[in-house]
Amino acid sequence: MSETVTFKLNGKDITVSKGTTVMEAARRENVEIPHFCWHPGLSVAGVCRFCMVKVEGRPKLEIACNLQATNGMDVKTDTDEAKSAHKWALEFHLVNHPLDCPICDQAGECGLQDYYMSVGKYQSQMTRPKVLKPKMLDVGRDLVLDTERCILCSRCVRFEEEVTKTGALGIFDRGDRAIIGTYPGEKIEHNYQTNLVDICPVGAFTSRDFRFKQRVWFLKDKPATCPGCSTGCSVDVFGKPETRSYFRIKPRKGEANGHWMCDKGRHMYSHLNQDVRLRTALTTDTKGRRHDTNFAGAIEDLGKRIAAVNPATDIALLVSAQHTSEEYKSLFNFFVQELGVKKVFQWREPTEKIDSFDGLLYRGDHNANTRGLQNELKEAGFATEVKNEFDFVAGSGAKIVIAITPEIPSTCPSLEKQLNHLTELDFVSFWTSAGSVGDNKKSKHALPMKGFAEKKGTFINHDGKPGKLESPFPCPVVDGRDITEIVAALKSWRHSHGSR
Ligand code: SF4
Ligand code: SF4
Ligand code: FES
Repeated sequence: MSETVTFKLNGKDITVSKGTTVMEAARRENVEIPHFCWHPGLSVAGVCRFCMVKVEGRPKLEIACNLQATNGMDVKTDTDEAKSAHKWALEFHLVNHPLDCPICDQAGECGLQDYYMSVGKYQSQMTRPKVLKPKMLDVGRDLVLDTERCILCSRCVRFEEEVTKTGALGIFDRGDRAIIGTYPGEKIEHNYQTNLVDICPVGAFTSRDFRFKQRVWFLKDKPATCPGCSTGCSVDVFGKPETRSYFRIKPRKGEANGHWMCDKGRHMYSHLNQDVRLRTALTTDTKGRRHDTNFAGAIEDLGKRIAAVNPATDIALLVSAQHTSEEYKSLFNFFVQELGVKKVFQWREPTEKIDSFDGLLYRGDHNANTRGLQNELKEAGFATEVKNEFDFVAGSGAKIVIAITPEIPSTCPSLEKQLNHLTELDFVSFWTSAGSVGDNKKSKHALPMKGFAEKKGTFINHDGKPGKLESPFPCPVVDGRDITEIVAALKSWRHSHGSR
């Protein structure tokens, strides 16, 4: 059993394991101690001197982030002395900070702004002009650095040293000329650079992708699981439900990812926006003419076609591993158990290197639910080995192919080629969110799909752990459905038309 210590925090007895800092204990108790340089995913630097607390019996205030709780310690975070220290530490950090909140992307989620309102509110004593430093520096593919806004907390330097171990950043010069920057000739090139934007407590690092697109207080965030690879990082998706648009993805603390996520995962919102999505269902009439239709029209067309063939020999399913386990279950229950479909193929990206791993988070299996699909294939009586069976469809003799496409085009370099290939077959019903299916004049039938941020369900990650989708945004596409909803509509069509 681990050793514990008991101490007082603002008069309340707290028991924590030995080695816990006052900062960590306070967070567990929801006691706010102002801080800039401390971050739960990084080592302690103790450089911002903001997190001052009073320990009874000791002559000076101490920093909570580097103060281990010990038995009998009596810590107060809200004495006049501590409050005054917070206020003046904040003024110190703002001495050379530019007043550009109106044009700063961090506005609305900035430590300086938030703390000014909660512990600051002082009359500035600065009479001298501020020290000017370089702005808008290009330090990495996804980053813009404004060194004037930096408060030199060193979180970014520690991230580079401790997490990615790339060490590209340093603090150069001394005193009020000290400046954050990359080493000469270096740029930040790894796949984790936007974490620097997240951990920077001010607007010094901003995201090239998100800059100037939206004020953060207009956005709604909902928890989800990243669909970008089989790691299954916990994330928050930020969108604007009233305009049905998406703007960014940020990491949420989770078992699979700790505090971080990769840059590839950050872009998993762009395929959800309307301009690149299939927005209407498609059908083809008996004369071979293609029409845009609504969901019910496309279900009717598909329902009739299914009713006219022998499912065991004439229907094939081609299924990507980018959908939820619940969807696979309903798909196989209907097509395999009820209709007796025997031809089920896995749709994989031919260039994927499924076992590759970058050592931090990003995996070569760019499907969030390979394990979930394997589980449901097994349940339905099929082989579970992960294999690319895309090419088997053409030779399967099926008259109807239900092609459930990968959701995320950027994870499948061969997607367009594969889609073109499928349009050459007799009849393919695409269940997809990809706008290019509608743009392809040879597509005969399509049902628009919901994206991962618009449905509930489970991804099973590479390790067999579940990642949940449980807080959906409204789907920007009126006729967008998930697999379970499409299957339910097909079933209902069959029942109402006397098919079983
Ligand atoms: S750039 Fe941001 S994270 Fe880095 S030292 Fe400055 S304030 Fe801290
Ligand atoms: S490592 Fe994989 S799951 Fe995590 S953010 Fe990147 S793409 Fe998404
Ligand atoms: S948070 Fe404790 S010194 Fe910065």
